[in-house]
Amino acid sequence: MSQIENKKQVFKPNREFAKDARIKNMCEYQALQDAANEDYEGFWGGYAKEKLEWMEPFTDVMDNKNFPFVNWFVGGKLNVSVQCIDRHLSSRKNKAAIIFEGDRGDKKIITYLELYYNVNQFANLLKNEFGVKKGDRVIIYMPMIPEAAYAMLACARIGAIHSIVFGGFSAEALKDRIEDADAKVVITADGAFRKDKPYMLKPVVDEALSGNTPVEKVLVVERNGEDITWVAGRDYSYNELIKHQNTKCEPEVMESEDPLFLLYTSGSTGKPKGVQHNSAGYILWAQMTMEWVFDVKENDTYWCTADVGWITGHTYIVYGPLAMGATTVMFEGVPTYPDAGRPWKMVEEYKINQFYTAPTAIRVLHKMGENEPAKYDLSSLKVLGTVGEPIDPPAWKWYYEAVGSSKCAIVDTYWQTETGGHIVSPLPGATPIKPACATFPLPGIMAEILDEHGNRAEVGEKGFMCVTRPWPSMIRGVWGDKDRFVKSYFGDVKKDGLPVYFTGDGAMYDEDGYITITGRTDDVINVSGHRMGTAEVEAAIKKHPNVAEVAVVGKPHEIKGEGIFAYIVLKSDKGVADEVEEVKAINKVILKEIGAIALCDDMLFTPGLPKTRSGKIMRRILRSIAKGEEITQDISTLEDPSIVQIIANMLKK
Ligand code: PRX
Repeated sequence: MSQIENKKQVFKPNREFAKDARIKNMCEYQALQDAANEDYEGFWGGYAKEKLEWMEPFTDVMDNKNFPFVNWFVGGKLNVSVQCIDRHLSSRKNKAAIIFEGDRGDKKIITYLELYYNVNQFANLLKNEFGVKKGDRVIIYMPMIPEAAYAMLACARIGAIHSIVFGGFSAEALKDRIEDADAKVVITADGAFRKDKPYMLKPVVDEALSGNTPVEKVLVVERNGEDITWVAGRDYSYNELIKHQNTKCEPEVMESEDPLFLLYTSGSTGKPKGVQHNSAGYILWAQMTMEWVFDVKENDTYWCTADVGWITGHTYIVYGPLAMGATTVMFEGVPTYPDAGRPWKMVEEYKINQFYTAPTAIRVLHKMGENEPAKYDLSSLKVLGTVGEPIDPPAWKWYYEAVGSSKCAIVDTYWQTETGGHIVSPLPGATPIKPACATFPLPGIMAEILDEHGNRAEVGEKGFMCVTRPWPSMIRGVWGDKDRFVKSYFGDVKKDGLPVYFTGDGAMYDEDGYITITGRTDDVINVSGHRMGTAEVEAAIKKHPNVAEVAVVGKPHEIKGEGIFAYIVLKSDKGVADEVEEVKAINKVILKEIGAIALCDDMLFTPGLPKTRSGKIMRRILRSIAKGEEITQDISTLEDPSIVQIIANMLKK
């Protein structure tokens, strides 16, 4: 066994790197944690004054009277687009803000001054042509092109609330989100390119808008030039309208707690929830974590491979890097196309200094191109990041050695859509790292692993990852559903009798106090770092007319981390005539209802499901069966215990 596979191995920060790092050692880290502990409001208030440009100063740091509805930087006024653009113009106007590389290798560099003009024009277009006002919801359904970032920042400039829907979601999923947000505008593109071929987005929007819809206008950016249908009076060409827009648009004066965006994410029950983030607290933590966790310097080039459709794309492609005045790379393509050397070729070409990706991508790149990194000059790299799912030691080892030449820090950043930014992560110049370990809470974040009684978990004991005090970038609400907000995140675990923020993840301390995230404790699965509620997939499968019952669980997957396993009971009179056809038909329903990311890796047609006498499906047993484990749980309370063996035998065949 290599030493790295032994999780206890500790890797000290690179000394040369640490010399110039913002947080240089664990003493400095501890001093920041102590400062936050001693004077929590002073800590946050100080950073808010130092890091943000205020139109009007705030009067109170935090108003916690209606916990968990917390207000930060009360009375303050600002605009997030000003944080990300205008304030950099005096010193960075000709600096690259965004470096874009298309799937086909086309390139574009957008300076801060160009970004300013583009965003101002975009904002004027939304305001003057479409009548978008402060507080209106705008759906962005876009590929990974700079216009997606312009659209986000344009909404921020005029005070509209954007909600990005990942381009892989189906028309039905898009429609649900449009309706829930009651959006009046959709910004989209004809489509884009993937693996050198065009793919389409606009037809999906057309389908989502068929029938009753709150949407009045659709703005279409031309990207792949393919033919699309235009609906007169509803659809407008961005490329045409933008030409006539003024390059100056006064930023809307926003309260600290005015909403910035909604982002829908899966929970353990019901439909996806619209996670709401507000202006000041979110942008403050986005910037601070960029500075601390990636330690980006003025001349650095930073690349996060996420999609803007997920929270990582929001905070760590657009808002965080731009708020700190960094150069951020945006990539339209697939990391393994034309071969698994593509990211390393880009690292060499752009002299990337910080590279941030998901464990799934690392596993694919490792599997498909183990020796590819050695073909390129990766000496510019200083910090490597991972996010979205637990990383396994072999993938970590390859990332550390083959990509980072055993000299780069790996920051295993733990966070969620709801946390807005990282909450547990190594600091590259300070934290001695252990493979596959998120290490310690970031300064100012009171993250703690608690047991079900609210006591700190013992070393080696699995507990719940919680945050015991509200922090500035914490979720502010679930759009249109206050009860769901409170129930989902506050209440399951209490400390000293008071509710704490509950992440839904399990975690464990080791003997040195390091935190390892062990995965979700609820019915949410993590497929390639994408969150998927089992309830959502089940609801989609149930739409197939032959399906009587279904239970979906996660199953370990070599590349994706977790795969989706569906146990399906067909209606009694139907039977399984042709299994292959049945699977195809059900997949079609999933594609229609959610999109390709929810396709099942395994489907098993069973005569029944293990249920308690009260009718609750015992997913724990199904998870064990899917993994091929022996069933050790007590099954005597099941309505029909024999079903467990029947299903297990079916799987063995
Ligand atoms: O289960 C945790 C996992 O991803 C979930 C959050 O998913 P989402 O809101 O889509 O945001 C993904 C990007 C932040 C968490 O509840 N997760 C995230 N980061 C890690 C992780 N699991 C283990 N290690 C991580 N570093």
